[in-house]
Amino acid sequence: MPFNTKLTRALGIKGKFHVHVFTYTRNANLNSQSPLYKVACNGAHPAYSRRPAKRNPKMQDHDPKALRREYHSPSSHDPPDYGAYAQVAIDEGIKIVETAGNSPGPIIKQLKAVGIIILHKCTTIKHAQSAVKLGVDFLSIDGFECAGHVGETDITNLILLSRARQSIGIPFIASGGFADGQGLAAALSLGAEGINMGTRFMCTIEAPIHQNIKQSIVDAQETDTELVLRRWRNTSRLFKNKVASEAVKIEQASTTGKFEEVAPYVSGKRGREVFINGDPEFGVWTAGQVIGLIHDIPSCADLIGRIERDAEQTLNSASSLIVPSSKL
Ligand SMILES: Cc1cc2nc3c(=O)[nH]c(=O)nc-3n(C[C@H](O)[C@H](O)[C@H](O)COP(=O)(O)O)c2cc1C
Repeated sequence: MPFNTKLTRALGIKGKFHVHVFTYTRNANLNSQSPLYKVACNGAHPAYSRRPAKRNPKMQDHDPKALRREYHSPSSHDPPDYGAYAQVAIDEGIKIVETAGNSPGPIIKQLKAVGIIILHKCTTIKHAQSAVKLGVDFLSIDGFECAGHVGETDITNLILLSRARQSIGIPFIASGGFADGQGLAAALSLGAEGINMGTRFMCTIEAPIHQNIKQSIVDAQETDTELVLRRWRNTSRLFKNKVASEAVKIEQASTTGKFEEVAPYVSGKRGREVFINGDPEFGVWTAGQVIGLIHDIPSCADLIGRIERDAEQTLNSASSLIVPSSKL
């Protein structure tokens, strides 16, 4: 049974899922009418983010001339042109945008000026409160369990979501560590209006990544992630493999503290190759602790149906534990 929350009403959707259509979906056969089309900013030229039908047909997906950079070093003086990405979203008629990262003010202003609904992702209550002041509509609260940029405070969702409920004053969804109906029920109980799932959707039939990578996730435990780049306050949770472990070793042993020493290990280009060539050891790739909860590779429809059913059952059986108080 579909749920009805502030999120589903505002976005005009039936389910309560935010599908993170991650960076590597340029080849995917995405529904071009979807209101949740992701404009990714990690490497590809803004023009690639246009809906396929509107791109210059001469553009090849892997044309090196169009790749801005393979990773962003913490000392980068050449950040992506976020304004250009936001303009693509506006030009393409996108209605809902997820923003993330530091200093989102100018982008939020640009998108809000044309009435786009903004869901801002953050890992601390302090950043959540700043985003509220900037006028975002929803927050996506990303706990320490999550895949990718975990922030530097290491607060897991059991605390973070309740802090959000107590103190941010606008609706939020829960992100990081969600894969099943019990998780959705827990997130709703803690005050969230829905969940965001990244890693779980990698393990679906539709995910445009190599089958070996999906199987590596199924075979993995919750302990099989690695935190890299903490030294540069850019901590990222990655799948634990030889390359990620080597990067951590160098990061901890380096006497210079120069990012260039680990840069070849955390190359985004090699990471993207993993999803194509299916070799989980070829480079670093993003995954959350939730890998320990993923045991199959269903279709997205089956997964969502199962999560909704299990969430409903979980909420019902939890409420059946309540015993009416005695009238005596
Ligand atoms: C393969 C992959 C790529 C991701 N790429 C990005 C990205 O480009 N930008 C971003 O803000 N978050 C990115 N994320 C993080 C997700 O948006 C989301 O915050 C995270 O996956 C939630 O945690 P979960 O994986 O436990 O569901 C990525 C996650 C995965 C698994």
